Amino acid sequence: MSNAPIGIFDSGIGGTSIFKEIHDLLPNENCIYLADSKNAPYGNRSSEEILQLSIKNTELLISKGCKIIVVACNTATTNAIEYLRQNYNIPFIGIEPAIKPAALNTKTKAIGILATKGTLSSQLFHRTTNVYANGIKVIEQVGEGLVPLIESGQLNSKDIQKLLSSYLEPMLKENIDYLVLGCTHYPYLIPTLIKMIPDHVTIIDSGLAVAKQTEVVLTSNNLLNSSSINPSIQLFSNGDITILNSILDNKFDVSYLKF
Ligand code: DGL
Repeated sequence: MSNAPIGIFDSGIGGTSIFKEIHDLLPNENCIYLADSKNAPYGNRSSEEILQLSIKNTELLISKGCKIIVVACNTATTNAIEYLRQNYNIPFIGIEPAIKPAALNTKTKAIGILATKGTLSSQLFHRTTNVYANGIKVIEQVGEGLVPLIESGQLNSKDIQKLLSSYLEPMLKENIDYLVLGCTHYPYLIPTLIKMIPDHVTIIDSGLAVAKQTEVVLTSNNLLNSSSINPSIQLFSNGDITILNSILDNKFDVSYLKF
């Protein structure tokens, strides 16, 4: 079982930001990644739709023999992980916006969070914010329109810059010193974002934390791959594989799959 693959899914190419962290930290592990680009963005869908899509992706990964599933999507985690954990007999790792480190470290007592509507409206997000960000001003912003642009390969276009500038403005007005990226697509915008925010604003995302948590859970379940011979890395997309390939610098085995 320990040489079975880690299954990873997202609404599209965004979760590859998590896949890369996992692959860097755990290079011996076999991985299967599903990019459900056909159904992206998940962020504007109802909670029920997000749940059904998460179930579909989970069952496909389980049918491919995965030993653990990383839900590399804040929107799917905040809307579906409790159900998945209760209904499938396999460990799940989720990703949530990194509110806790931002709230603990802010000096201006104001933090910004950029995420999808599905994440910001979820109960899990509200619970986490209430627990960790008491007494801190949290400026929430839906990143409307960003995911479709990223899915089409635009990371620094005029359209992206225009949207980001309107989303950052209210946060900068409130003097935030932390910007939390609550969607796995957004780390690809960091080079663009850095040029748009003052130096004292720190950007944080949860990618490395998710990879470390994956290692902890694999270790405690005795599931770390003991073999280091040619790990198999397969990425599947039900959309345009050119974008997925290019975001990964053509380094991995990417194929089209209908799902
Ligand atoms: N990448 C996903 C997330 O982390 C979903 C974005 C979307 O499909 O709207 O939330």
